[in-house]
Amino acid sequence: MSKLSNSLAHIDVTTMLHPYTNAKVHEKNGPVIMDHGKGIHVWDSNGKEYIEGLAGLWSVAVGFGETRLKDAAARQMDRLSYYHIFSGKSHEPSIRLAEKLVDMTPANLTRVFFTNSGSEANDTVVKLLWYMNNSLGRPKKKKFIARTKAYHGITIASGSLTGLPNNHRDFDLPAIPVRHLTCPHFYRFGLPGETEVAFTARLIAEAEAVILEEGPETIAGFIGEPLMAAGGVMPPPVGYWQGIEALCRRYDIMLIADEVITGFGRLGSPFGVMHYGFQPDIMVLSKQITSSYIPLAAIVFSEEIYAAIADNTGRIGTFGHGFTGSGHPVATAVALENLAIMEERDLFANAARVGQHFQAALSELADHPLVGEVRGAGLIAGLELVADKRTRRAFSTPGMVGMRVFHAAQECGLITRAIGDTIALCPPLILNEAQVLEIVRRLRQALDVTAEWQRHEGLA
Ligand SMILES: Cc1ncc(COP(=O)(O)O)c(C=O)c1O
Repeated sequence: MSKLSNSLAHIDVTTMLHPYTNAKVHEKNGPVIMDHGKGIHVWDSNGKEYIEGLAGLWSVAVGFGETRLKDAAARQMDRLSYYHIFSGKSHEPSIRLAEKLVDMTPANLTRVFFTNSGSEANDTVVKLLWYMNNSLGRPKKKKFIARTKAYHGITIASGSLTGLPNNHRDFDLPAIPVRHLTCPHFYRFGLPGETEVAFTARLIAEAEAVILEEGPETIAGFIGEPLMAAGGVMPPPVGYWQGIEALCRRYDIMLIADEVITGFGRLGSPFGVMHYGFQPDIMVLSKQITSSYIPLAAIVFSEEIYAAIADNTGRIGTFGHGFTGSGHPVATAVALENLAIMEERDLFANAARVGQHFQAALSELADHPLVGEVRGAGLIAGLELVADKRTRRAFSTPGMVGMRVFHAAQECGLITRAIGDTIALCPPLILNEAQVLEIVRRLRQALDVTAEWQRHEGLA
């Protein structure tokens, strides 16, 4: 790239540090610059078309270029472009959205706190429970339980809850007291000869042993994604959430469902907790809440938690936590319009219906020599690539084949995510059946190209 170049790509590589990017590789290769989008498609600055098979970052539920969201934002900007909700102020969009979220979520969740991102929301959960337990005179009840391969964000507390090495290494995390349990993914972590039911029982026994070892009086919360997404799209084994819920009740531990990806119809049910049949004390929501047209996250929690926190604010004189953008009127107005679109177009039901075709069509790729497991629910799926299908043996260089498939798919006009050697898909909820077939066609092509490369390199 010429030093004199004033191309966007040149400006990018000479001015930015990108999230989740190998900066040295990026300096050489430069960015793929996205230009515009419509429905499930995006186009880059060279005019190449892609199916956005990950809905951006698991989030553009209503598809790209939805003019109703643009209009909702413009209307709110005209009326009240900004206001905060600190110190007794409020505004209609955040009030209406809080009411809507309380109405949509399980009946025991009655209170809402707004943040800008999922990471901030999970940091807020940690602080809410610390504050609550201090208020209740339980100053030792501060630890968290999470799972290996969990993703809860990257700020100091949420990054600590996340159970992925790259989010800890060289960031000096975890920085809060947290124990990470075995990842509840049967295909990868089940023992030879173990049944799924026995796997669940082993994981619940492990959770109980950790609770007793640490002391239940020291544990504030158990946090989990109902279906683990960013760590590799891993649905829980049968009975897992019922077992965890029972432990949380027995030992007075708050159960936090991080629904940042699973919320708002992704699994074909309104929320992941409904899909798997358990009741949380706290739910964390973001991404599809606005189809990510604008940043917003929300924590929805029980009256019991609210009451303890409110009492303490009465004693101290304030709740010393909140963001300039908490409940931003434009973001909450966009969320309300986005949820209205989802209702009118019945997108949760669409995710359930088209999701069945999606899972069935993808499962046909299990016959491919590279594919070990196809898994998912509704409109989220993961394909785990393996060196040996029979023994489930992973590749000796983790992530290399996954990255190959990711690039080949992008060449074929399908954007996915490679999580190690798992290829993740999470298309917009507006997907139709013809588009399912096109996704699978492009993905099979990418798998074939990669298998051919393997043979050529003598790796197969
Ligand atoms: C389950 C879950 N929680 C939290 C987050 C963090 O959200 P954000 O990137 O908005 O901080 C993510 C992001 O992917 C997520 O998947």
